[in-house]
Amino acid sequence: MIIAAGEGRLLGCDDVGTGLPVCFLHGFPHDRSLWNAQLGALAVPARTVAFDLPGFGESTPLASPSVEGFADAVVAGLDTLGIDRAVITGLSMGGYVALALWRRHPSRVRALVLADTRATADGAEGRARRDALIAAAREHGAAAVAEQMAPGMVGRTTRAQRRDVVAALDAMMRRAPLAGVLGGLAALRDRPDATPSLGGITVPTLVVCGDEDVLTPPSDARALHFGIPGSRLELLAGAGHVTCVERPAAFNHVLSEFLTGLVTA
Ligand code: MLT
Repeated sequence: MIIAAGEGRLLGCDDVGTGLPVCFLHGFPHDRSLWNAQLGALAVPARTVAFDLPGFGESTPLASPSVEGFADAVVAGLDTLGIDRAVITGLSMGGYVALALWRRHPSRVRALVLADTRATADGAEGRARRDALIAAAREHGAAAVAEQMAPGMVGRTTRAQRRDVVAALDAMMRRAPLAGVLGGLAALRDRPDATPSLGGITVPTLVVCGDEDVLTPPSDARALHFGIPGSRLELLAGAGHVTCVERPAAFNHVLSEFLTGLVTA
């Protein structure tokens, strides 16, 4: 469905089940269908909500895209759905947005799940790569970005054994709207270093990473885990950058275990 989310903005979202609100934020250049295997499929009573971030899927783009602006849009979406606090679950770019949401709206965060993501900002080389991708997208369209992102998206096991998963992710990246791709790249390029805020995270946090992730490798996940007091780290064997799609059962298992700890605490 599509919901209003402040200032004339529209957000695409799926809202499945009842119970503990769990909000899912996709990576770049994905959309909310990244979480199809999680919605309504957790082993705890949960209201699972997946948003298209601004500019992606069915959501309208922001005039000045930033991870902070994306976080504010998600909070406006939660307002529309009448959700006060949620477990904010973000993969990669979604994780950058989840950390921004914690910095800006901590009272809306029941817990954090940071999947295949990192705290650090882009360095000079990384920023130059984003600029090159922006130029490629302007010249050749969103498909050019999908082509450049594809090789690192899944792990070697998925690439060898799951052509269906590779093809589905490829199709998702290729259908990303150009405005979203351009805005997303600018937001990724300009995101701040979240490292200084990690020590102040006071909500339960689960860090998940595929052991074959080459875009945000396990060393990034370990840095998050060491930086966030009391956090838990789960490495998923045989998965690359999109753990929730590559190993959905394992992802749902570690997420459900974490959520069970929250509801029984
Ligand atoms: C993502 O999956 O969201 C991107 O790989 C994040 C990034 O490029 O930093």
